[in-house]
Amino acid sequence: MRTKMLCGNWKMNLSKTEALTLAANVRDAAAAYAEAEAVQCVLFPPFPYLDAVSSVLEGSPVMLGAQTLHEAESGAYTGEVSASMLVDMGCELVLVGHSERRHGLGESDALIAAKASRALEAGLTPVVCVGETGAERESDATEVVLLRQIEPLKHMLARCALAYEPVWAIGTGQVATPEEAEAVHAFLRAQLGENGASVPILYGGSLNGDNAPSLFSKPGVDGGLVGGASLKAEVFSRMLGQLRNSSGEDSFHVHA
Ligand code: 13P
Repeated sequence: MRTKMLCGNWKMNLSKTEALTLAANVRDAAAAYAEAEAVQCVLFPPFPYLDAVSSVLEGSPVMLGAQTLHEAESGAYTGEVSASMLVDMGCELVLVGHSERRHGLGESDALIAAKASRALEAGLTPVVCVGETGAERESDATEVVLLRQIEPLKHMLARCALAYEPVWAIGTGQVATPEEAEAVHAFLRAQLGENGASVPILYGGSLNGDNAPSLFSKPGVDGGLVGGASLKAEVFSRMLGQLRNSSGEDSFHVHA
């Protein structure tokens, strides 16, 4: 059985005070869902707030994640952050392959695989983000692009979570339809072979409290990776409840 997960990617937003308030509010709202072990809730604050947010979340079932990491174990990499530092800060998960790093910062499929590998070595669970651009979808290249993105990671995916984040849906208000998401999730799951039943596949891209229930109702959609809407405690907490109550029986969670 695989985990239902709701992840909040705060990206490069919030003051420290705002971050701590948001974390405390989500922690309080999440207790009911997470204690019932129905949904795993993960927050991904910016690096400078990890330590303080970790303290806020201590003793709560809400988990901490980081937005990226460096692929090397340690060394002369000014400004970078290693997997072991993230573990020291209390992180259990880390995003790799987010489109803002693939497209904005030129991270390659090979680099993303190296980051995922380093994360696993350190005991972190990588949340591997994949997704096509609008132009790629229009030219029917979605599956080719997804295959290229997961190929270097294939041997590791059984120990990761996947997030399908179509680039055209991120921060645009143009959410994928439940049917579009369902089709891609099924395609990705088919690539996972025997591990398909246990790897959570999340949807991300303009998810909010209004559109989440219809996406979460699809059996292959195991949860969400939320950007903008995760910055509002009330909305994000409501989405936790929506995921908890979603019917996708095929994705019903038993905590590992
Ligand atoms: P939005 O929810 O703001 O579209 O961002 C999605 C995302 O990139 C999450 O990682």
